[in-house]
Amino acid sequence: MLEQIDQLGTKAKSDLAGVSDADSLEQFRIKYLGTKGEIKGLMSQLKEVPPQQKPQFGQRANALRAEIQTLYDRRKTELGADAKSSDGPLLDATEPGLAPRLGRTHVITQTMDDLIEVFGRMGFEVAIGSEVEDGYHNFVALNIPEDHPARDPLDNFYLEGSGSGQPTQHLLRSQTSTIQIRVMETTEPPIRVIAPGRVYRPDEHDATHSSMFHQIEGLYVDRKVSMADLKTTLIQFAHAYFGSKAEIRLRPSFFPFTEPSAELDIKMCVKDKWDWVELGGCGMVDPNVFKAVGYDPEQWTGFAFGLGIERIAMRKYGITDIRWLYENDVRFLRQF
Ligand code: DAH
Repeated sequence: MLEQIDQLGTKAKSDLAGVSDADSLEQFRIKYLGTKGEIKGLMSQLKEVPPQQKPQFGQRANALRAEIQTLYDRRKTELGADAKSSDGPLLDATEPGLAPRLGRTHVITQTMDDLIEVFGRMGFEVAIGSEVEDGYHNFVALNIPEDHPARDPLDNFYLEGSGSGQPTQHLLRSQTSTIQIRVMETTEPPIRVIAPGRVYRPDEHDATHSSMFHQIEGLYVDRKVSMADLKTTLIQFAHAYFGSKAEIRLRPSFFPFTEPSAELDIKMCVKDKWDWVELGGCGMVDPNVFKAVGYDPEQWTGFAFGLGIERIAMRKYGITDIRWLYENDVRFLRQF
């Protein structure tokens, strides 16, 4: 009985040696390794094997199957029989190559880079800050009083820990204005920085709202800085970024960290139509903010602004739904 296994092995090996193409290899596979093949067939003979020989017979048959399978696999690779057809070269060296698709920066990153470049030409350096801030830097030092609605737990992502709204309580920053404080705490005036970054607010997501978005903050501190300097800077920015025909207007407003404060609108051309678009807030740095960072408000003056980067990008490129910016659909992103 055991001899029969050895004979089958010898026969299979000599058959395999005669295999010269994919078709004969396939016939070999069916004959020996297929579900009705001869090696499988050995197992059906097991019942006729005397009981004391059964274990040995089983082991030998299994070993033969493994050996023939390995030899078959090797032959298959040698013949390149993985390919559908056995004739013709496997590699067509004359076929044109596939052009690799280049990656690109996200449209928001591109916008930030452009803004950094525009303000950089006006002498503004880039500052960054942490996305996790404490209540002191997000509110207190920015002159936002304890009972101010901006500190409401429903309007902020407070992290777990000491009571919401406390100066030591951490949160995901709700505005890049925190970076104004961080910069002034560690730098002596004069200061001229812009600070782009992510901010977080628990807004319902829709075409114009997202719970995470980007702002770019500007801060200029020197002696005798005036509202005229602020307006000039913003006009320069608008012309450089949106084109020489862009106009700006400042609408009186209120922010706790600036006095006076204004809302910044830019008149720009969107789809052949000129329109006023609100881009953010600005104003003259409030003396209380200077006091919080240890600057003498009698000596130092400054202006600040905070603009929404998504708004800028959406207006510039005619994007009408903010959610497209975060879905990472390459068909959308490839356009920029
Ligand atoms: N931080 C304000 C906001 O998120 C925007 C802002 C307004 C920033 C006035 C400023 C400013 O620097 O002076 O709504």
